[in-house]
Amino acid sequence: MTTAASAASSPPVTDQLIRYGGEFADVLIERARGSWLTTADGRRILDFTSGQMCATLGHGHPAILDAMRDAGERVVHLFSGFLSRDVTELARELMAVLPEPLARAMFLSTGGEANEAALRLAKLHTGGHEVLAFAGSWHGMTAGAAASTYSAGRRGYGPALPGTMALPTPNAYRCPIAHCRDRCDLACLDAGMALADAQSVGSPAAVIAEPILSVGGIVPLPEGYLARLKEHCERRGMLLILDEAQSALGRVGAMFAFEQHGVVPDVLTLSKTLGGGLPLSATVTSGAIEQDAADKGFLHFTSHVSDPLPAAVGRAVLATVLADDLPRRASASGARLRAGLEELQRRHEPIGDVRGQGLMLGVDLVQDRATRAPAERYGTAVSARCLELGLNVNIVRFPGLGSVLRIAPPLTIAPEEIDLGLEILDRALREAGPRQ
Ligand SMILES: Cc1ncc(COP(=O)(O)O)c(C=O)c1O
Repeated sequence: MTTAASAASSPPVTDQLIRYGGEFADVLIERARGSWLTTADGRRILDFTSGQMCATLGHGHPAILDAMRDAGERVVHLFSGFLSRDVTELARELMAVLPEPLARAMFLSTGGEANEAALRLAKLHTGGHEVLAFAGSWHGMTAGAAASTYSAGRRGYGPALPGTMALPTPNAYRCPIAHCRDRCDLACLDAGMALADAQSVGSPAAVIAEPILSVGGIVPLPEGYLARLKEHCERRGMLLILDEAQSALGRVGAMFAFEQHGVVPDVLTLSKTLGGGLPLSATVTSGAIEQDAADKGFLHFTSHVSDPLPAAVGRAVLATVLADDLPRRASASGARLRAGLEELQRRHEPIGDVRGQGLMLGVDLVQDRATRAPAERYGTAVSARCLELGLNVNIVRFPGLGSVLRIAPPLTIAPEEIDLGLEILDRALREAGPRQ
């Protein structure tokens, strides 16, 4: 039995928990406000990951707390066929910031679920089942989303869905086909589509893509890539699904990352940033696709679809992003953070590349700058040292994708908090031990 004393101590007692992603961090968090976490023993940690990349307004934002309180008083949860005003209004408010032909949304809880719904829509609409996704992708842990997640977690769980195929991740710093160096000419896309054609059994459904890969090492899609990908999709009768779990609602310096590419997806999924830390996701598509799916009896009926309380929170998040012009703020804060990281790059040999957009940045750590061999152990040590020094920075390191610090603080972060984070990172890079 866990005693009150042991529950309040730090580090946490974990022996009754299932480890779902390696070892737990050695801290017990008691409170979170703005860009800061406080541990049970009173240590403060600057949160450069916005929780799990969700808390873009910062922790405990008053607009979110008010929405939760207010919705809690009115209605939290309903029969899934009933609607509340917060759901219909959230759909209306979302469409007001999205371009045509995107016109209809459904609201679910997690990113995996939103992608699951997107894939089911695409399959029903096209009649196909083949789905392409990047080799560095992460779309979620539910079966369909996981089948199109190639960065991790494929081994040991039996067959993935038939028809799922990988496309090379267009990372110009680590060209997946050893063709470019630092500038992608889209050859990997054409090669990837040709390979998919060779494997196809003639049942194309969709390509699902992150406009800026996150777990894949913070890789913004190269200029022209999305437009060419859309052409490839249209030629094959496939839908283009864009997964903007992390990039939507201001993070990259625009409301949506796809706007920067001049391409509108057939299906858009939103999650993480839409709920600002609460489980809320959306699958959005055109009137025509929705009508066709409805005619064919589209079913995606879940316990928490159209739940009122998360929808009220989503409205508060969207309203705050717009009222406080958080895309512009992310752009300005992102420029400050990026300049700081580039300055660190000049002084720290292991920083091979700094990339990303707005406040979604990656620091690619290498053993040496010529070979670009990933500094995997060093990356883990830097992240661990940062945490000891009071900064939460995440490392993503998967085979072929590098060893990359993911930096995505709340969009509300103050300039002096950015500077403090850079100071801590500077020290961690010096103190983390051998560069391997
Ligand atoms: C791009 C992207 N899509 C989907 C997901 C899955 O979201 P969730 O964990 O909410 O199911 C993630 C989670 O990290 C993600 O980064």
